[in-house]
Amino acid sequence: MPGGIAVSEHERWNSRYAVADYVFGTQPNAFLKAEARRLKPGWRVLAVADGEGRNGVFLAEKGMLVHSIDFSENAQEKARRLARARNVDVEFERADILNWKWPENHYDAVVAIFIQFTPPDDRAMLFEKMKRAVKPGGLILMEGYGPKQMIYKTGGPGILEQLTTRELLEQSFADWEIIDLEDYECTLNEGTRHSGTSHLIDIVARKPKEEFPED
Ligand SMILES: C[S@@+](CC[C@H](N)C(=O)[O-])C[C@H]1O[C@@H](n2cnc3c(N)ncnc32)[C@H](O)[C@@H]1O
Repeated sequence: MPGGIAVSEHERWNSRYAVADYVFGTQPNAFLKAEARRLKPGWRVLAVADGEGRNGVFLAEKGMLVHSIDFSENAQEKARRLARARNVDVEFERADILNWKWPENHYDAVVAIFIQFTPPDDRAMLFEKMKRAVKPGGLILMEGYGPKQMIYKTGGPGILEQLTTRELLEQSFADWEIIDLEDYECTLNEGTRHSGTSHLIDIVARKPKEEFPED
């Protein structure tokens, strides 16, 4: 496994994807679809933990140069199939994002949809890597589940500390321009695992154009 991955986590996800259906569907995440207008054709975009490729393939259809990473080979096989069916090129790479060699200042945008699989320490590290991977002036678009998912149980890990809050995102992106930060409830219909009344938290944030040296 690349990067000495947590084997049980990998097996858990990989076996979840070992079914014919697309577990999260083949249509893009609703937040990403609504916000994709901010991303331009020709942009280099990283789709983090892209699973079966519904979001990466959607962005490639919009003309972006998509790099789609996930650690599940079963998911990526389906993602490749989806890209072929939609007649788009996507660069797929099997990678453990907690051990990946993240590039720096490389992508015009990083897209992270439902990545609430890390405990807080790993999440802080992951957010830092994602932020560093974006070029100055580039964007992060992220959607996660909020704490009310503990009641709704309509998707997500069922582990409170892994869920997203507005405060967490305000702190994590305090040094970026927060373009939009929404905390809301709605009915989600994104495959069998993300379905029903849901508590969602979305962020669109821009990396400052220039980094000023400290005194
Ligand atoms: C909730 S799914 C979301 C998939 C996709 N973003 C979507 O919205 O359809 C979480 C994804 O994270 C992937 N994942 C979990 N831990 C990972 C890790 N350490 N490295 C890479 N991918 C990971 C799983 O394989 C799974 O595809």
